[in-house]
Amino acid sequence: MSARGHAFGIDIGGSGVKGAVVDLDTGLLTHERLKIATPRPATPEAVAAAVAELVALAGWEGPVGITLPCVVLDGHARTAANIDPAWIGTDARALFSAALGGRTVTVLNDADAAGLAEDSYGTARDLNGLTLLLTFGTGIGSAFLYNGTLVPNSELGHLVIEGVEAEHMAAASIKDRDGLTYPEWAQRVSTALIHIENLFWPKVIVAGGGISRDHEQWIPLLTNRTPVIPAVLKNTAGIVGAAMAIAGGIAP
Ligand code: BGC
Repeated sequence: MSARGHAFGIDIGGSGVKGAVVDLDTGLLTHERLKIATPRPATPEAVAAAVAELVALAGWEGPVGITLPCVVLDGHARTAANIDPAWIGTDARALFSAALGGRTVTVLNDADAAGLAEDSYGTARDLNGLTLLLTFGTGIGSAFLYNGTLVPNSELGHLVIEGVEAEHMAAASIKDRDGLTYPEWAQRVSTALIHIENLFWPKVIVAGGGISRDHEQWIPLLTNRTPVIPAVLKNTAGIVGAAMAIAGGIAP
């Protein structure tokens, strides 16, 4: 048994509900991550049933940390930009807890979870000051960490830049939708980053989301001021951050 122990994290995304036991000393999963297709429509009840199925599959009986692609305040989902609108106003913590037989649950934003994980186990782990993680996927998620402390629910993907929300201009899904080349897309990402860094002045920006796997193709093309480094944890960051949140009592 490790010093910081193990915890269970679940990351709820558009295509999959993914979970695993996390070794909190290393930030590594102790087994291959389990995945259940996200129900369609992804209503709160259907997703809660998938979460219960996943936890049963893992044979995990303890508390659980869970991400949602929503603003989460006191366990309640407050927004639903890229998930079923029925989530807005849902007491997600109570819903998941009930689906899991009344056990302790914490719920947090997906990018906030990824930020916690990268800030503890990724390249940014030894940096102090303000770190900003941005996830580029269907939308753009954001997480601010100041000396290791999460400032939750920052939602920079919805910052309006030149009349357009950042995620409608520069999410990875927009690159695919509009058939943009990496240079074309990198120019849009640079525009977003310049606006963001002029407002918040992070010391470093960590770029996450699936497209960070191809970072050699676009990070060198960025023209903003703040150093941008690729995320390290890739598709486990949400799971690891969710596990950290339940272990560390983080409940935004
Ligand atoms: C949502 C955020 C979420 C991000 C990534 C945005 O559209 O508003 O809450 O973190 O997408 O999933």
